[in-house]
Amino acid sequence: MSARRKKEWFDNEAFWRELYPYMFPEKRFTDATAQIGQVLDLTKPKGKAVLDLCCGPGRWSIPLAQQGFSVTGVDRTKFLLNAARTRAKAAEVKIEWVRADMRDFLRPDSFDLALSMLTSFGYFDRKDEDRLVLRNMFVNLKAGGVCMIDVAGKEQLARVYQPTTSDTLPNGDILVQRHRIADAWSRIHNEWILVRKGRTRSFSFHHTIYSAQELRDRLADAGFEQIKVYGSLDGDEYGPNPQRLIVVGRKA
Ligand SMILES: C[S@@+](CC[C@H](N)C(=O)[O-])C[C@H]1O[C@@H](n2cnc3c(N)ncnc32)[C@H](O)[C@@H]1O
Repeated sequence: MSARRKKEWFDNEAFWRELYPYMFPEKRFTDATAQIGQVLDLTKPKGKAVLDLCCGPGRWSIPLAQQGFSVTGVDRTKFLLNAARTRAKAAEVKIEWVRADMRDFLRPDSFDLALSMLTSFGYFDRKDEDRLVLRNMFVNLKAGGVCMIDVAGKEQLARVYQPTTSDTLPNGDILVQRHRIADAWSRIHNEWILVRKGRTRSFSFHHTIYSAQELRDRLADAGFEQIKVYGSLDGDEYGPNPQRLIVVGRKA
């Protein structure tokens, strides 16, 4: 782990630990297992080596390993990597877990498929650091390798944007989310207020929001070719009502 950088919101383990029930309910794991075939249909990797960048608790890594892929899961959050290890053990699959920052993980010409799923991209204040992440993904792929980035797209956010929302979580906690669009629709600032048994904790975080064209251009700048944009893992067109912004690009 790099000690040279200033601490940012995603360095806070408590953020991932406290919000785990909301971010990673069991349904998200079963959904990923059901959708892994769609990921493979859209990417068509030529070999079995997969990099799951920002793998979290292994939602994608584990079903990939169950299908015979050789998976390396990279994440910076110790708590989530421990959750991933526990789940992989229960599923009786072997996965390489690496604790590293996505700006630092470099293993050139090693992977046939590189994934960045569930809005794990766009975290850095400096956009050149997002570019570095894409460039690392490109370098880490073998020739003919393919990447998939899955984020909440700007067009989708503009359509459903509400300044405040609230949910009751399966464990009874209440989660209030406040959102603020900043910097001419290039960033979103979020405050998530978690109410548990009368105790309130607040977490603030912010990230860049990309339009389809911006993300496609970024991938092209990183060296990717044959870039395709989808509005869901079903392979729908990124039309007026997208569920997600999914961009797939290939290394020649
Ligand atoms: C929204 S979660 C997505 C997890 C996983 N991709 C999924 O689809 O379930 C974002 C993940 O990015 C990781 N992360 C955040 N900042 C990171 C960084 N700078 N380097 C590596 N991982 C990071 C977090 O620990 C978390 O696991």
